[in-house]
Amino acid sequence: MVPSRLVVLISGSGSNLQAIIDACNSGEINANIAAVISNKADAYGLERAKQAGIATAVLSHKDFDSREAYDAQLMNVIDTFAPNLVVLAGFMRILTPSLVQKFKGKMLNIHPSLLPKYQGLNTHQRAIDAKDDVHGVSVHFVTEELDGGPVILQAKVPVLADDTADTLAKRVHAQEHIIYPLVVKWFSEQRLTMEADYAVLDEKQLPAHGAHYPE
Ligand code: GRF
Repeated sequence: MVPSRLVVLISGSGSNLQAIIDACNSGEINANIAAVISNKADAYGLERAKQAGIATAVLSHKDFDSREAYDAQLMNVIDTFAPNLVVLAGFMRILTPSLVQKFKGKMLNIHPSLLPKYQGLNTHQRAIDAKDDVHGVSVHFVTEELDGGPVILQAKVPVLADDTADTLAKRVHAQEHIIYPLVVKWFSEQRLTMEADYAVLDEKQLPAHGAHYPE
């Protein structure tokens, strides 16, 4: 099978990017990362990409008058790398409908909560404030609803009595670095597709909360 071509979008540290780079380099994922694009010039993930010999591009939202204008240019930049999968890995931007439509079924996101719980920001603190005893992370297809597309895979972590948002985030991150490469691997093996409002893995419809890692 021809390796997938990925474009990864980031805004920050890029630890999920690193996990995907490592899985591509080890052969675990049959894919090449064609480029890493950031909306922030100082994102550490850009360093990780450079160290891995991956092309980088910075497109600052501050240089554009509107979200539409930014996303139109972002689409152009993504297109120059001709990816078959766009991976959002901590890309802290709300996307316009035209960008989402263009990559329908070909764009993934990772969100640090057990969706549909806690769409949006500050998920770890919200789980603590709600006194949840279980929290986690979801990988999902991107649709026009923020953090609302079909869920593919979730991993759970316990919330401990003395957790802060930071300690809980670290526990969640460890799971992120396992499940995101796994989902990218499935997609790259052409085992994963998006239907109207659910994901399909190995020709089976996944439940609303996706598959669970570990099974
Ligand atoms: C992760 O917590 C991810 O769930 C969220 O943004 C964060 C990105 O972290 N979408 P990193 O840049 O991959 O380290």
